[in-house]
Amino acid sequence: MNGVIRSNYFAIMASCFVILLVYFSVPDQFANRLRSYPFSSHEEEKATPEPSITVAMQTPSQNQSEPLIPTTEMTPVQEQSVPSIPETQKKENFIEQSIPSNTSAQEKPINQNIGPSIPPPQDNPIPFPEQFQPSIPNARDQENLGEDGDKRKFFKKPSCDFSDMQFDLCDVEGDVRVHGKSSSVLSVTSTESYISEVNNETWSVRPHPRKYATELMAQFREIKIKVEAHNRAPKCDVYHNSAAVIFANGGYNGNYFHDFADLLVPLFITSYQFKGEVQFLVSNIQPWFIFKYIGLLKKLSNYEIIDYDKEERVHCYHRVIVGISKHKDLIVEPSRAPNHISTVEFGRFAKMAYSLKQNVAIKLGEASGKKPRLLIMARDHTRSLMNRGEIVPLIEKLGFEVVIGNALFSMDIDEFARLVNSADVMMGVHGAGLTNFVFLPTNAVLIQIVPLGNYERTCEYDFGEPAVDMGLKYLQYSISEEESTLMDLYPRDHAVFRDPESFHRQGWQVANGIYLGKQNVRLNFTRFRPILERALHLLRE
Ligand SMILES: *[C@@H]1O[C@H](CO)[C@@H](O)[C@H](O)[C@H]1NC(C)=O
Ligand SMILES: *[C@@H]1O[C@H](CO)[C@@H](O)[C@H](O)[C@H]1NC(C)=O
Ligand SMILES: *[C@@H]1O[C@H](CO)[C@@H](O)[C@H](O)[C@H]1NC(C)=O
Ligand SMILES: *[C@@H]1O[C@H](CO)[C@@H](O)[C@H](O)[C@H]1NC(C)=O
Repeated sequence: MNGVIRSNYFAIMASCFVILLVYFSVPDQFANRLRSYPFSSHEEEKATPEPSITVAMQTPSQNQSEPLIPTTEMTPVQEQSVPSIPETQKKENFIEQSIPSNTSAQEKPINQNIGPSIPPPQDNPIPFPEQFQPSIPNARDQENLGEDGDKRKFFKKPSCDFSDMQFDLCDVEGDVRVHGKSSSVLSVTSTESYISEVNNETWSVRPHPRKYATELMAQFREIKIKVEAHNRAPKCDVYHNSAAVIFANGGYNGNYFHDFADLLVPLFITSYQFKGEVQFLVSNIQPWFIFKYIGLLKKLSNYEIIDYDKEERVHCYHRVIVGISKHKDLIVEPSRAPNHISTVEFGRFAKMAYSLKQNVAIKLGEASGKKPRLLIMARDHTRSLMNRGEIVPLIEKLGFEVVIGNALFSMDIDEFARLVNSADVMMGVHGAGLTNFVFLPTNAVLIQIVPLGNYERTCEYDFGEPAVDMGLKYLQYSISEEESTLMDLYPRDHAVFRDPESFHRQGWQVANGIYLGKQNVRLNFTRFRPILERALHLLRE
């Protein structure tokens, strides 16, 4: 079976590679657009800002002079997002094989002995497996309770929240029937009057937390939630004793940052409360995603993952959550999360999922003689550290053991997570690879190198604040013009240096096309060195 997975894996990775090749030609489009763009050549009055070293120490920056950048702009790494990766023909096989076969909740009713023994209602038209005993009172149990008044107290109107700017979510409890193919979720009741009670209302959710990106959202199927009388409801083909969460792949998936920010962390927020007793139904399912993140997914759910859009059987649950909750990128806010879990819990969860050993970073000063390990997050195409070979020995001279990691799309997360977890300091130029901080041990130091172009606030928002929220130390270093390869492409007095905001005003594609797409970094070690000394100091604390 392992062999089959591997060969499928390689087939998929090969097709991903082709897509990545196509994708990497995109920066040229930006370049073309820029070449044809009439740059305003007004001479800049502003002097070059003093090349200053920003040490953003544990400052979750509520107290910043810049206004909070609206969340819609907070997607600096979008330029690398792989637009939806086409599904391979082998998709179905692939999914089945990549999911542990242990957990075939569909075929057998699980946990036959859980819950009070409730006899199947006589008037229930649904074939009710004898051995199936719901663990919580649900709508099926009410049917023979007698008076309307008694039944009513068991009926719960779907609880839907459309107020958040990032996601819509409906929480449906009772006798809930899911039919993927027709994209419907029915909250089933025995009496018509309940239906008029909720005004025959339907709710509609696109279950991916990028709501404000309207064009992006159009790609997602709407899921219709509705209250239905049991005599009109489709019969259950499969009973589940678990809850279910329905979400959609797509959007900016394929970019490592977005995989975590838009799906894995929101999925954690929404489903960790079930302690594995939850099944995932995935719309627009992307097999590579399931395969790549199976390590995390199977720690959240004990059950097989269902390809929602194709599913013809009616699945019945006692609770279905349609949509996933998102707080800030890579952050879990205890005040809004079920059971008040936090980003620290997500970090713990991620490390547990990959059985990572190092919980706490090295503490210097204790006479172990061990060197702190510094991981350089390398990048190949843009924002790469051009003079890595030159600076590695200098970093080593300061007393670090240096290792290099390159978080490629095709990386094996198990292996990479172990590498990251073995580090006490991780440094890299702003980019999706820094998302790997989730695997760093507590008290480790994350050093983010900020390229030219006014990305300081974005960098803090994307990685600095989440890292601090997870219990890491954070240092941020803004490069000087001399350290940017944009110097090789534009004259010194160009608006690229003098007025980055003029590019940001043209939209993130334009600004990112230059500053994130065409820029590499040559670190000036003299200037950078104090950051490393600060990191050593932090490891002593
Ligand atoms: C930052 O916080 C300090 C103390 O809370 C306050 O005095 C100062 O005005 C704040 N600065 C900004 C820019 O909000
Ligand atoms: C299958 O599930 C059972 C109980 O849920 C568990 O004890 C067992 O370890 C699982 N087997 C595998 C191969 O995961
Ligand atoms: C609810 O709406 C459907 C279709 O819109 C209609 O057929 C049905 O009679 C309505 N039910 C009630 C109780 O109003
Ligand atoms: C490197 O940084 C130092 C300290 O800021 C500065 O004096 C020096 O000129 C820089 N070197 C280059 C090549 O820019």
